[in-house]
Amino acid sequence: MKEMLYYPWWFFQCKVLGKRKPLQSVIFITDLCNLHCRHCSVVKEGPEAKSKSLAEVRNELQYCYDAGSRFVDFEGGEPHLWRDKEAGADINTLVTLAREMGFHSTTVTTNAWLPITAHSDLIWVSLDGLKEAHDDQRGAGSFARAMEHIGASEHPNLNVNMVITNRNYRDFEGVARLVKEHPHLRKMSFSFYVPYTSRDLLVSPEVRNAVIDKAIELKKAGYPLMNSMAGLDLLRDPQNFIHKKQCWISNFITVDGTRLSACQGEAAGVCEDCGFGMGAEMTLLFSLHPEMIKAGLSVRSARS
Ligand SMILES: C[S@@+](CC[C@H](N)C(=O)[O-])C[C@H]1O[C@@H](n2cnc3c(N)ncnc32)[C@H](O)[C@@H]1O
Ligand code: SF4
Repeated sequence: MKEMLYYPWWFFQCKVLGKRKPLQSVIFITDLCNLHCRHCSVVKEGPEAKSKSLAEVRNELQYCYDAGSRFVDFEGGEPHLWRDKEAGADINTLVTLAREMGFHSTTVTTNAWLPITAHSDLIWVSLDGLKEAHDDQRGAGSFARAMEHIGASEHPNLNVNMVITNRNYRDFEGVARLVKEHPHLRKMSFSFYVPYTSRDLLVSPEVRNAVIDKAIELKKAGYPLMNSMAGLDLLRDPQNFIHKKQCWISNFITVDGTRLSACQGEAAGVCEDCGFGMGAEMTLLFSLHPEMIKAGLSVRSARS
């Protein structure tokens, strides 16, 4: 109940008083990864790859909480690889710490190359196609391993995120069907590839529209797509939502400790090509669109 009272307070502070308080924080805890995806904009290799210590993550969590944030997403690299050996800590130490600190919900996004052991409230598993397209984007054998670990997981709130590129968009419906039919999966969300490093994988406006038309059709047919109808419509063209710039609703902390008050896309100058489904949904959240609020609450509550 106390948690539910927080949201009207946050909304009043931001909408009426014009404050810019994040509601969700994305903390990059490690650069380390066990895959090397074609589309990845964040992963670093060799001596450049760093991880945060437990003390550093604790500081960042406190900073985010004090700034107003109540949802935290642990990102990487691959979060399941994160360790602070001296402190005897792994990803679940961070999940527990965030809950103790007062965060309402924790999320881990994973490639599922390793067993899914995080006990965050919500897990996003990245599936970028069926076997051929997923392996093309994420590396040989990665689809089979992800499916094996989804099958073995008993996590009650396991969801799929797909990043659409010009190599995998034909599998969109297949992935949606897989999620609908798999007994361990709840919902699917998708974004379009954002060209941080190269434009080679960017989909054309025609493909983007065709994927959105398909998503609307599937959602009407009862497929468990998380993106709201209104959010899907906005996502057709970044111009529909980027000028409203509600990206500050999430803040981002990078592994090196840089604190960004909005999505990294702004600093990288790629807003004109934004494909993040969440970018559109945040615009709706800030206008109190009921469909977005319903979608947000349903994905964060575990399957009964
Ligand atoms: C950076 S990964 C980290 C978590 C984990 N290693 C994984 O792959 O799920 C988090 C999400 O960002 C997505 N991502 C990476 N580069 C992207 C890009 N250029 N555009 C859109 N999404 C991207 C990934 O596909 C993944 O779903
Ligand atoms: S698994 Fe995640 S972090 Fe690793 S390379 Fe792929 S998208 Fe990047």
